[in-house]
Amino acid sequence: MTTSPETPTEGIPVSDLESQTAYLDAAATTKRFTHPLHTPWLDNVKRGAAILDYGCGYGRTLDALDQQGFDNLCGFDTSPGMIARARSLHPAMRFVVLDTLPALACPDASIDVVVLFAVVTCIPSDDAQLLLIGELHRVLKPGALLYLSDLLLRDDRRNRDRCARFAESYGTYGVFETGDGTVCGHHPSDWFTSLLAGFETIDTRRTTVTTMNGNTSTGLQFLARNPASRHQTPTH
Ligand SMILES: C[S@@+](CC[C@H](N)C(=O)[O-])C[C@H]1O[C@@H](n2cnc3c(N)ncnc32)[C@H](O)[C@@H]1O
Repeated sequence: MTTSPETPTEGIPVSDLESQTAYLDAAATTKRFTHPLHTPWLDNVKRGAAILDYGCGYGRTLDALDQQGFDNLCGFDTSPGMIARARSLHPAMRFVVLDTLPALACPDASIDVVVLFAVVTCIPSDDAQLLLIGELHRVLKPGALLYLSDLLLRDDRRNRDRCARFAESYGTYGVFETGDGTVCGHHPSDWFTSLLAGFETIDTRRTTVTTMNGNTSTGLQFLARNPASRHQTPTH
């Protein structure tokens, strides 16, 4: 995949997110991520396709793609600790630490598949999520794929209580502090549908996932296509 210094999207300097980055750096060696890659969704993708893993963590999903024979892989993440671990586990792969969110040093319409696994949950602000989806839109070729996996808002007592507890401080029901130093969000399925409004949904599936703190949760996955003609970034 070719990258270039063009980064047209204005964004948030990562230094503004110091506490989240410190948490994620520490998590690089202590947490395990588990959202499953449903490989049949990628059966028709050429093995040389340019695949970008946004919020790649320690390279788990890229490793799974590598095992499927894909060989044009690149991972981006805000956490230098995650990228350091990814590089040591996968020295032949290319990893980039993001400086300004969500700007990617990739030309417009240069990527065939973006993988976005368990990243929306790490971005508390709806506007920041929309900005990210707009940037992914920019780099995806017309007709290219976005594969999103994230966590669904749950209605059990524990989740209801914590979402209610933090709803006022974060201005959104579903965003909460985990108790070990970070802020996460779980979203209803219609939020993901509106986030992906500028894409054509090809398929969805539900999965059971273990969260990074070891709890069982419900994952929701979307396979979506960037429409063949360019269009506007989705808004609220
Ligand atoms: C729960 S982990 C998932 C990692 C990987 N996608 C996987 O499934 O194995 C979330 C990752 O997203 C990164 N991250 C969080 N917020 C981000 C943002 N705004 N932009 C880019 N990466 C972000 C974190 O550093 C972390 O590595």
